[in-house]
Amino acid sequence: MDQTPLSRPNVDVLAQSASYAQHYRAGRRPIAAKASAQMLRNRFCLPMNDMGLPGAVVIDELIAAAEPGLIGNTDPNFYAWVMGASNPVGVAADWLTSAWGQNAAIYQSSPAAAVAEEAVEAWLLDLLDLPKESSVGFVSGATMATFVGLAAARGEVLSRFGHDYDAVGLQGAPLVRIYLSDDAHVANYAALRQLGFGDLNFHVLPSDSAGLMRPRDLADAIGREDGPKIVIAQAGHINSGGFEPLAEIAEIARTHSAWIHVDGAFGLWARVSPSRKYLTEGAELADSWSVDGHKWLQIPYACGFAIVRDRNAHRRAMQMTAGYLNAAEDDGRNPSGYVPELSRRAQGFVAWAVLRHLGRRGITELVHRHCAAASRLAERISQIDGLSVLNHVELNQIVVACDDRENEAWKIRNLVGLLNGSQGVFVHSARWKSRTILRLSVISMDTGRPQIDALAAAISSSWRAIDADSRN
Ligand SMILES: Cc1ncc(COP(=O)(O)O)c(C=O)c1O
Repeated sequence: MDQTPLSRPNVDVLAQSASYAQHYRAGRRPIAAKASAQMLRNRFCLPMNDMGLPGAVVIDELIAAAEPGLIGNTDPNFYAWVMGASNPVGVAADWLTSAWGQNAAIYQSSPAAAVAEEAVEAWLLDLLDLPKESSVGFVSGATMATFVGLAAARGEVLSRFGHDYDAVGLQGAPLVRIYLSDDAHVANYAALRQLGFGDLNFHVLPSDSAGLMRPRDLADAIGREDGPKIVIAQAGHINSGGFEPLAEIAEIARTHSAWIHVDGAFGLWARVSPSRKYLTEGAELADSWSVDGHKWLQIPYACGFAIVRDRNAHRRAMQMTAGYLNAAEDDGRNPSGYVPELSRRAQGFVAWAVLRHLGRRGITELVHRHCAAASRLAERISQIDGLSVLNHVELNQIVVACDDRENEAWKIRNLVGLLNGSQGVFVHSARWKSRTILRLSVISMDTGRPQIDALAAAISSSWRAIDADSRN
Protein backbone atom coordinates (compact mmCIF):
# COMPACT_ATOMS: atom_id res chain seq x y z
CA MET A 1 0.00 0.00 0.00
CA ASP A 2 1.23 3.49 -0.84
CA GLN A 3 2.46 5.65 1.98
CA THR A 4 0.20 8.64 2.66
CA PRO A 5 2.02 12.01 2.66
CA LEU A 6 1.51 12.14 6.43
CA SER A 7 3.72 9.13 7.04
CA ARG A 8 6.80 10.88 5.63
CA PRO A 9 8.47 13.54 7.76
CA ASN A 10 8.62 16.67 5.67
CA VAL A 11 10.75 19.44 7.06
CA ASP A 12 11.59 20.92 3.65
CA VAL A 13 8.33 22.86 3.77
CA LEU A 14 9.90 25.05 6.46
CA ALA A 15 12.62 26.25 4.07
CA GLN A 16 10.05 26.60 1.30
CA SER A 17 7.86 28.84 3.49
CA ALA A 18 10.83 30.84 4.77
CA SER A 19 12.00 31.53 1.25
CA TYR A 20 8.53 32.61 0.12
CA ALA A 21 8.01 34.76 3.23
CA GLN A 22 11.30 36.55 2.63
CA HIS A 23 10.27 37.24 -0.94
CA TYR A 24 6.79 38.38 0.16
CA ARG A 25 8.05 40.82 2.77
CA ALA A 26 10.77 42.26 0.53
CA GLY A 27 8.52 43.04 -2.44
CA ARG A 28 5.81 45.61 -3.05
CA ARG A 29 2.44 44.09 -3.67
CA PRO A 30 -1.15 45.28 -4.02
CA ILE A 31 -2.25 46.61 -0.63
CA ALA A 32 -5.93 45.91 -1.19
CA ALA A 33 -7.21 42.39 -1.81
CA LYS A 34 -7.57 41.74 -5.54
CA ALA A 35 -9.80 38.69 -5.43
CA SER A 36 -13.54 38.59 -4.83
CA ALA A 37 -14.99 36.34 -2.15
CA GLN A 38 -16.15 33.96 -4.89
CA MET A 39 -12.66 33.73 -6.41
CA LEU A 40 -11.26 32.93 -2.98
CA ARG A 41 -13.95 30.33 -2.36
CA ASN A 42 -13.07 28.69 -5.66
CA ARG A 43 -9.51 28.29 -4.46
CA PHE A 44 -10.08 27.41 -0.80
CA CYS A 45 -13.40 25.61 -0.67
CA LEU A 46 -12.30 22.39 -2.34
CA PRO A 47 -13.82 18.99 -1.69
CA MET A 48 -12.14 17.29 1.28
CA ASN A 49 -9.45 15.08 -0.24
CA ASP A 50 -9.13 11.47 0.83
CA MET A 51 -5.45 10.76 0.47
CA GLY A 52 -3.73 13.94 1.59
CA LEU A 53 -1.07 15.75 -0.44
CA PRO A 54 2.67 16.28 -0.12
CA GLY A 55 3.50 19.24 2.13
CA ALA A 56 5.31 21.20 -0.60
CA VAL A 57 2.27 21.01 -2.86
CA VAL A 58 -0.04 22.14 -0.07
CA ILE A 59 2.15 25.11 0.82
CA ASP A 60 2.23 26.16 -2.85
CA GLU A 61 -1.54 25.77 -3.02
CA LEU A 62 -1.99 27.82 0.14
CA ILE A 63 0.14 30.65 -1.23
CA ALA A 64 -1.73 30.66 -4.54
CA ALA A 65 -5.10 30.60 -2.80
CA ALA A 66 -4.38 33.23 -0.17
CA GLU A 67 -2.22 35.80 -1.91
CA PRO A 68 -4.94 37.51 -3.99
CA GLY A 69 -7.04 37.88 -0.85
CA LEU A 70 -4.36 39.33 1.40
CA ILE A 71 -4.54 42.88 2.76
CA GLY A 72 -1.28 44.79 2.92
CA ASN A 73 -1.21 45.80 6.55
CA THR A 74 2.52 45.07 6.55
CA ASP A 75 2.96 47.84 3.96
CA PRO A 76 4.06 51.34 5.10
CA ASN A 77 1.23 52.88 3.04
CA PHE A 78 -1.50 51.17 5.02
CA TYR A 79 -3.73 53.52 7.07
CA ALA A 80 -7.10 51.77 7.09
CA TRP A 81 -7.32 50.42 10.63
CA VAL A 82 -5.25 50.35 13.80
CA MET A 83 -3.15 47.34 12.87
CA GLY A 84 0.49 46.45 13.24
CA ALA A 85 2.79 45.17 10.53
CA SER A 86 4.24 41.97 12.05
CA ASN A 87 7.88 42.82 12.66
CA PRO A 88 10.00 40.18 10.86
CA VAL A 89 11.90 39.44 14.08
CA GLY A 90 8.54 38.60 15.62
CA VAL A 91 7.67 36.50 12.59
CA ALA A 92 10.91 34.55 12.96
CA ALA A 93 10.25 34.01 16.67
CA ASP A 94 6.70 33.00 15.79
CA TRP A 95 8.02 30.32 13.42
CA LEU A 96 10.32 29.01 16.13
CA THR A 97 7.40 28.98 18.54
CA SER A 98 5.48 26.80 16.10
CA ALA A 99 8.49 24.65 15.27
CA TRP A 100 9.10 24.00 18.95
CA GLY A 101 5.41 23.18 19.26
CA GLN A 102 5.27 24.14 22.89
CA ASN A 103 2.09 24.16 24.94
CA ALA A 104 2.45 27.10 27.31
CA ALA A 105 -0.27 25.92 29.66
CA ILE A 106 1.69 25.31 32.82
CA TYR A 107 5.31 25.72 33.85
CA GLN A 108 5.93 22.00 33.49
CA SER A 109 4.54 21.81 29.96
CA SER A 110 7.11 24.36 28.77
CA PRO A 111 9.47 25.84 31.34
CA ALA A 112 11.11 28.08 28.72
CA ALA A 113 7.77 29.50 27.58
CA ALA A 114 6.73 30.17 31.17
CA VAL A 115 9.93 32.00 32.02
CA ALA A 116 9.87 34.00 28.76
CA GLU A 117 6.44 35.33 29.82
CA GLU A 118 7.78 36.12 33.26
CA ALA A 119 10.55 38.21 31.68
CA VAL A 120 8.17 40.04 29.35
CA GLU A 121 5.78 40.71 32.24
CA ALA A 122 8.51 42.64 34.04
CA TRP A 123 9.57 44.51 30.88
CA LEU A 124 6.00 45.55 30.08
CA LEU A 125 5.37 46.94 33.55
CA ASP A 126 8.63 48.83 33.32
CA LEU A 127 8.00 50.19 29.81
CA LEU A 128 4.41 51.18 30.52
CA ASP A 129 5.35 52.49 33.96
CA LEU A 130 2.58 50.55 35.69
CA PRO A 131 2.62 49.19 39.27
CA LYS A 132 5.38 46.62 39.58
CA GLU A 133 3.22 44.23 41.59
CA SER A 134 0.80 43.79 38.66
CA SER A 135 0.46 40.53 36.76
CA VAL A 136 0.18 40.09 33.01
CA GLY A 137 -1.88 37.55 31.09
CA PHE A 138 -0.73 36.88 27.52
CA VAL A 139 -3.90 36.79 25.47
CA SER A 140 -4.95 37.04 21.82
CA GLY A 141 -5.69 40.78 21.76
CA ALA A 142 -7.20 43.71 23.59
CA THR A 143 -10.70 42.23 23.55
CA MET A 144 -9.56 39.21 25.54
CA ALA A 145 -7.37 41.45 27.71
CA THR A 146 -10.48 43.47 28.54
CA PHE A 147 -12.37 40.27 29.27
CA VAL A 148 -9.67 39.19 31.72
CA GLY A 149 -9.37 42.59 33.41
CA LEU A 150 -13.13 42.89 33.83
CA ALA A 151 -13.43 39.29 35.08
CA ALA A 152 -10.99 40.19 37.85
CA ALA A 153 -12.99 43.39 38.47
CA ARG A 154 -16.27 41.47 38.72
CA GLY A 155 -15.07 39.10 41.43
CA GLU A 156 -13.37 41.82 43.40
CA VAL A 157 -16.12 44.48 43.44
CA LEU A 158 -18.69 41.84 44.35
CA SER A 159 -16.57 40.58 47.22
CA ARG A 160 -16.42 44.14 48.57
CA PHE A 161 -20.19 43.84 49.00
CA GLY A 162 -20.02 40.45 50.67
CA HIS A 163 -20.88 38.44 47.56
CA ASP A 164 -18.79 35.37 46.77
CA TYR A 165 -18.73 35.12 42.97
CA ASP A 166 -16.71 31.90 43.04
CA ALA A 167 -19.39 30.20 45.12
CA VAL A 168 -22.58 31.39 43.43
CA GLY A 169 -21.65 33.31 40.31
CA LEU A 170 -23.97 36.16 39.52
CA GLN A 171 -26.97 34.42 41.15
CA GLY A 172 -28.39 36.80 43.75
CA ALA A 173 -25.49 39.22 43.30
CA PRO A 174 -25.97 42.91 43.96
CA LEU A 175 -26.31 44.91 40.75
CA VAL A 176 -22.86 45.86 39.48
CA ARG A 177 -22.89 49.33 37.90
CA ILE A 178 -20.49 49.87 35.04
CA TYR A 179 -19.69 53.40 33.91
CA LEU A 180 -18.35 53.98 30.42
CA SER A 181 -18.70 56.31 27.47
CA ASP A 182 -21.35 55.67 24.84
CA ASP A 183 -18.42 55.70 22.40
CA ALA A 184 -16.14 53.30 24.30
CA HIS A 185 -14.69 50.64 22.00
CA VAL A 186 -17.15 47.86 21.23
CA ALA A 187 -14.69 45.35 22.68
CA ASN A 188 -15.61 46.65 26.15
CA TYR A 189 -19.31 46.14 25.62
CA ALA A 190 -18.65 42.69 24.12
CA ALA A 191 -16.45 41.60 27.04
CA LEU A 192 -19.02 42.89 29.54
CA ARG A 193 -21.80 40.87 27.90
CA GLN A 194 -19.61 37.75 27.82
CA LEU A 195 -19.11 38.25 31.57
CA GLY A 196 -22.83 38.22 32.29
CA PHE A 197 -23.54 41.94 32.31
CA GLY A 198 -26.23 43.65 30.24
CA ASP A 199 -27.95 46.96 29.64
CA LEU A 200 -29.22 47.11 33.21
CA ASN A 201 -25.63 47.14 34.46
CA PHE A 202 -24.37 49.77 32.05
CA HIS A 203 -24.40 53.40 33.01
CA VAL A 204 -23.61 54.82 29.60
CA LEU A 205 -22.23 58.34 29.73
CA PRO A 206 -22.62 60.73 26.79
CA SER A 207 -19.39 61.30 24.90
CA ASP A 208 -17.91 64.58 23.73
CA SER A 209 -16.87 65.32 20.16
CA ALA A 210 -13.75 63.13 20.57
CA GLY A 211 -15.81 60.17 21.81
CA LEU A 212 -14.75 60.61 25.44
CA MET A 213 -16.65 60.73 28.73
CA ARG A 214 -16.58 63.93 30.75
CA PRO A 215 -15.44 63.46 34.37
CA ARG A 216 -18.25 65.66 35.70
CA ASP A 217 -20.85 63.34 34.12
CA LEU A 218 -19.13 60.40 35.76
CA ALA A 219 -19.05 62.19 39.13
CA ASP A 220 -22.77 63.01 38.90
CA ALA A 221 -23.76 59.50 37.90
CA ILE A 222 -21.53 57.52 40.24
CA GLY A 223 -22.52 59.63 43.24
CA ARG A 224 -26.20 58.86 42.75
CA GLU A 225 -25.88 55.07 42.81
CA ASP A 226 -24.93 52.51 45.43
CA GLY A 227 -23.38 49.07 45.12
CA PRO A 228 -20.37 47.53 43.38
CA LYS A 229 -18.96 49.72 40.64
CA ILE A 230 -16.58 49.47 37.70
CA VAL A 231 -15.39 52.42 35.62
CA ILE A 232 -13.98 51.82 32.12
CA ALA A 233 -11.80 54.61 30.81
CA GLN A 234 -10.36 55.04 27.33
CA ALA A 235 -6.70 55.69 26.60
CA GLY A 236 -6.65 56.14 22.83
CA HIS A 237 -10.11 56.36 21.25
CA ILE A 238 -10.47 54.15 18.19
CA ASN A 239 -11.32 57.10 15.92
CA SER A 240 -10.00 60.28 17.51
CA GLY A 241 -7.07 58.74 19.40
CA GLY A 242 -8.28 60.84 22.37
CA PHE A 243 -7.67 60.12 26.04
CA GLU A 244 -10.13 60.52 28.84
CA PRO A 245 -8.69 62.53 31.76
CA LEU A 246 -7.48 59.44 33.56
CA ALA A 247 -6.21 61.09 36.77
CA GLU A 248 -9.52 62.88 37.31
CA ILE A 249 -11.52 59.78 36.49
CA ALA A 250 -9.38 57.68 38.84
CA GLU A 251 -9.94 60.12 41.69
CA ILE A 252 -13.72 60.06 41.23
CA ALA A 253 -13.76 56.28 40.89
CA ARG A 254 -11.59 55.79 43.99
CA THR A 255 -13.86 58.02 46.08
CA HIS A 256 -16.66 55.59 45.25
CA SER A 257 -14.60 52.41 45.68
CA ALA A 258 -14.97 51.56 42.03
CA TRP A 259 -12.60 49.33 40.07
CA ILE A 260 -10.98 51.24 37.22
CA HIS A 261 -10.20 49.50 33.95
CA VAL A 262 -8.26 51.34 31.24
CA ASP A 263 -8.76 50.32 27.62
CA GLY A 264 -5.39 51.25 26.19
CA ALA A 265 -5.28 48.85 23.24
CA PHE A 266 -2.89 51.09 21.35
CA GLY A 267 -3.03 54.39 23.26
CA LEU A 268 -1.32 53.07 26.37
CA TRP A 269 1.89 52.90 24.35
CA ALA A 270 1.97 56.73 24.47
CA ARG A 271 3.49 56.12 27.92
CA VAL A 272 6.80 55.15 26.34
CA SER A 273 7.15 58.50 24.59
CA PRO A 274 8.46 61.36 26.74
CA SER A 275 6.62 63.80 24.46
CA ARG A 276 3.25 61.97 24.65
CA LYS A 277 3.23 60.42 28.11
CA TYR A 278 1.26 63.37 29.48
CA LEU A 279 -1.78 62.05 27.57
CA THR A 280 -1.87 59.01 29.84
CA GLU A 281 -1.31 60.77 33.14
CA GLY A 282 -3.22 58.92 35.84
CA ALA A 283 -3.32 55.60 33.95
CA GLU A 284 -1.05 54.18 36.64
CA LEU A 285 -3.84 54.69 39.19
CA ALA A 286 -6.11 52.11 37.54
CA ASP A 287 -6.70 48.53 38.68
CA SER A 288 -6.47 46.85 35.29
CA TRP A 289 -5.40 47.67 31.76
CA SER A 290 -5.84 46.12 28.33
CA VAL A 291 -3.13 46.69 25.77
CA ASP A 292 -2.23 45.11 22.49
CA GLY A 293 1.08 43.72 21.30
CA HIS A 294 -0.11 43.27 17.72
CA LYS A 295 -0.85 46.95 17.13
CA TRP A 296 1.80 49.51 17.93
CA LEU A 297 4.43 47.02 19.05
CA GLN A 298 4.16 45.22 15.67
CA ILE A 299 4.19 41.77 17.29
CA PRO A 300 2.59 39.28 14.88
CA TYR A 301 -1.06 38.41 15.53
CA ALA A 302 -2.50 37.43 17.97
CA CYS A 303 -0.96 39.21 20.92
CA GLY A 304 -2.53 41.21 23.72
CA PHE A 305 -1.72 41.80 27.37
CA ALA A 306 -4.18 41.73 30.27
CA ILE A 307 -2.59 43.62 33.14
CA VAL A 308 -4.10 43.50 36.62
CA ARG A 309 -2.74 45.31 39.67
CA ASP A 310 -4.04 42.75 42.17
CA ARG A 311 -2.35 39.51 41.18
CA ASN A 312 -4.61 37.48 43.46
CA ALA A 313 -7.79 38.94 41.96
CA HIS A 314 -6.36 38.19 38.50
CA ARG A 315 -5.56 34.59 39.37
CA ARG A 316 -8.87 34.03 41.16
CA ALA A 317 -10.74 35.14 38.05
CA MET A 318 -8.79 32.81 35.74
CA GLN A 319 -8.25 29.86 38.07
CA MET A 320 -8.18 26.36 36.65
CA THR A 321 -7.01 23.54 38.86
CA ALA A 322 -6.89 19.79 38.34
CA GLY A 323 -4.91 16.90 39.73
CA TYR A 324 -2.97 16.44 36.51
CA LEU A 325 -1.96 20.10 36.39
CA ASN A 326 0.10 19.85 39.53
CA ALA A 327 3.10 22.08 40.10
CA ALA A 328 6.31 21.24 41.94
CA GLU A 329 7.44 23.48 44.80
CA ASP A 330 10.12 25.27 42.84
CA ASP A 331 8.13 25.64 39.61
CA GLY A 332 7.82 29.06 38.10
CA ARG A 333 4.73 30.95 37.03
CA ASN A 334 1.96 28.98 35.32
CA PRO A 335 1.05 31.01 32.21
CA SER A 336 -2.51 29.69 32.04
CA GLY A 337 -3.18 31.02 35.54
CA TYR A 338 -3.65 34.50 34.04
CA VAL A 339 -5.69 33.79 30.90
CA PRO A 340 -8.93 32.01 29.97
CA GLU A 341 -7.22 29.21 28.02
CA LEU A 342 -5.36 26.11 29.18
CA SER A 343 -3.56 24.73 26.11
CA ARG A 344 -2.11 27.77 24.43
CA ARG A 345 0.53 29.10 22.11
CA ALA A 346 3.81 30.18 23.72
CA GLN A 347 3.13 33.90 23.20
CA GLY A 348 6.00 34.91 25.44
CA PHE A 349 8.73 33.90 22.97
CA VAL A 350 7.45 36.24 20.27
CA ALA A 351 6.87 39.20 22.59
CA TRP A 352 10.29 38.56 24.15
CA ALA A 353 12.02 38.63 20.76
CA VAL A 354 10.29 41.81 19.53
CA LEU A 355 10.93 43.68 22.79
CA ARG A 356 14.60 42.59 22.80
CA HIS A 357 14.89 43.67 19.19
CA LEU A 358 13.27 47.10 19.48
CA GLY A 359 14.49 47.94 22.95
CA ARG A 360 13.05 50.90 24.87
CA ARG A 361 14.56 53.25 22.34
CA GLY A 362 13.10 51.49 19.32
CA ILE A 363 9.59 51.46 20.80
CA THR A 364 9.83 55.12 21.79
CA GLU A 365 11.06 56.03 18.31
CA LEU A 366 8.19 54.11 16.71
CA VAL A 367 5.51 55.88 18.74
CA HIS A 368 7.18 59.25 18.36
CA ARG A 369 7.62 58.87 14.59
CA HIS A 370 3.99 57.85 14.07
CA CYS A 371 2.62 60.66 16.24
CA ALA A 372 4.81 63.25 14.48
CA ALA A 373 3.77 61.85 11.09
CA ALA A 374 0.09 62.01 12.05
CA SER A 375 0.44 65.67 13.13
CA ARG A 376 2.16 66.51 9.85
CA LEU A 377 -0.48 64.71 7.82
CA ALA A 378 -3.28 66.47 9.71
CA GLU A 379 -1.68 69.82 9.06
CA ARG A 380 -1.34 69.10 5.34
CA ILE A 381 -4.94 67.87 5.08
CA SER A 382 -6.24 70.96 6.91
CA GLN A 383 -4.82 73.04 4.10
CA ILE A 384 -6.97 71.29 1.49
CA ASP A 385 -10.07 73.29 0.56
CA GLY A 386 -13.23 71.38 1.38
CA LEU A 387 -11.68 68.93 3.87
CA SER A 388 -11.35 69.37 7.63
CA VAL A 389 -9.61 67.43 10.36
CA LEU A 390 -12.19 66.91 13.10
CA ASN A 391 -9.95 65.71 15.92
CA HIS A 392 -7.12 67.27 17.86
CA VAL A 393 -4.25 65.11 16.59
CA GLU A 394 -1.95 64.26 19.48
CA LEU A 395 -1.56 60.55 18.82
CA ASN A 396 -1.67 58.58 15.55
CA GLN A 397 -5.33 58.94 14.52
CA ILE A 398 -6.74 61.46 12.03
CA VAL A 399 -10.44 61.99 11.40
CA VAL A 400 -11.05 63.74 8.08
CA ALA A 401 -14.46 65.09 7.10
CA CYS A 402 -15.88 66.75 4.02
CA ASP A 403 -17.16 70.30 4.54
CA ASP A 404 -19.99 69.71 2.09
CA ARG A 405 -22.18 67.76 4.50
CA GLU A 406 -24.95 67.17 2.05
CA ASN A 407 -22.66 65.25 -0.29
CA GLU A 408 -20.15 63.91 2.21
CA ALA A 409 -21.09 60.24 1.94
CA TRP A 410 -20.40 59.86 -1.77
CA LYS A 411 -17.50 62.31 -1.78
CA ILE A 412 -15.65 60.48 1.00
CA ARG A 413 -16.43 57.12 -0.56
CA ASN A 414 -15.08 58.38 -3.89
CA LEU A 415 -11.99 59.70 -2.19
CA VAL A 416 -11.35 56.28 -0.63
CA GLY A 417 -11.96 54.62 -4.01
CA LEU A 418 -9.53 56.89 -5.83
CA LEU A 419 -6.83 56.60 -3.19
CA ASN A 420 -7.05 52.82 -2.97
CA GLY A 421 -7.50 52.37 -6.69
CA SER A 422 -4.55 54.25 -8.06
CA GLN A 423 -2.40 55.81 -5.39
CA GLY A 424 -0.72 52.76 -3.86
CA VAL A 425 -2.21 53.38 -0.43
CA PHE A 426 -4.94 51.71 1.57
CA VAL A 427 -7.39 53.86 3.54
CA HIS A 428 -10.90 53.35 4.82
CA SER A 429 -14.01 55.33 5.64
CA ALA A 430 -16.20 55.01 8.71
CA ARG A 431 -19.46 56.31 10.10
CA TRP A 432 -18.88 58.26 13.27
CA LYS A 433 -21.08 60.71 15.12
CA SER A 434 -23.54 60.80 12.20
CA ARG A 435 -20.79 61.70 9.74
CA THR A 436 -19.04 59.76 7.02
CA ILE A 437 -15.35 60.22 7.69
CA LEU A 438 -12.00 59.26 6.25
CA ARG A 439 -10.29 57.64 9.20
CA LEU A 440 -6.52 57.41 9.00
CA SER A 441 -4.34 55.42 11.39
CA VAL A 442 -0.58 55.93 11.24
CA ILE A 443 0.65 52.72 12.83
CA SER A 444 2.42 50.52 10.29
CA MET A 445 6.02 49.78 11.30
CA ASP A 446 7.82 51.52 8.43
CA THR A 447 5.50 54.49 7.93
CA GLY A 448 7.33 57.81 8.16
CA ARG A 449 7.60 61.19 6.56
CA PRO A 450 8.05 60.06 2.90
CA GLN A 451 4.87 57.97 2.99
CA ILE A 452 2.97 60.74 4.79
CA ASP A 453 3.98 63.35 2.27
CA ALA A 454 2.99 61.04 -0.58
CA LEU A 455 -0.37 60.38 1.07
CA ALA A 456 -1.02 64.09 1.62
CA ALA A 457 -0.27 64.77 -2.05
CA ALA A 458 -2.49 61.87 -3.13
CA ILE A 459 -5.39 63.11 -0.97
CA SER A 460 -4.98 66.60 -2.37
CA SER A 461 -4.95 65.54 -6.05
CA SER A 462 -7.77 63.00 -5.60
CA TRP A 463 -9.86 65.60 -3.80
CA ARG A 464 -9.35 68.12 -6.58
CA ALA A 465 -10.58 65.53 -9.09
CA ILE A 466 -13.68 64.82 -7.00
CA ASP A 467 -14.38 68.51 -6.59
CA ALA A 468 -14.02 69.16 -10.31
CA ASP A 469 -16.33 66.21 -10.99
CA SER A 470 -19.00 67.51 -8.64
CA ARG A 471 -19.03 70.89 -10.40
CA ASN A 472 -19.62 69.35 -13.83
C1 LIG B 1 -9.35 51.11 21.83
C2 LIG B 1 -9.49 49.67 21.44
N1 LIG B 1 -9.91 48.78 22.34
C3 LIG B 1 -10.06 47.48 22.03
C4 LIG B 1 -9.75 47.01 20.78
C5 LIG B 1 -9.90 45.55 20.45
O1 LIG B 1 -8.63 45.02 20.28
P1 LIG B 1 -8.35 43.62 19.57
O2 LIG B 1 -8.81 43.80 18.16
O3 LIG B 1 -6.89 43.44 19.69
O4 LIG B 1 -9.12 42.57 20.29
C6 LIG B 1 -9.29 47.90 19.81
C7 LIG B 1 -9.00 47.44 18.44
O5 LIG B 1 -8.77 48.22 17.53
C8 LIG B 1 -9.14 49.26 20.15
O6 LIG B 1 -8.66 50.15 19.27
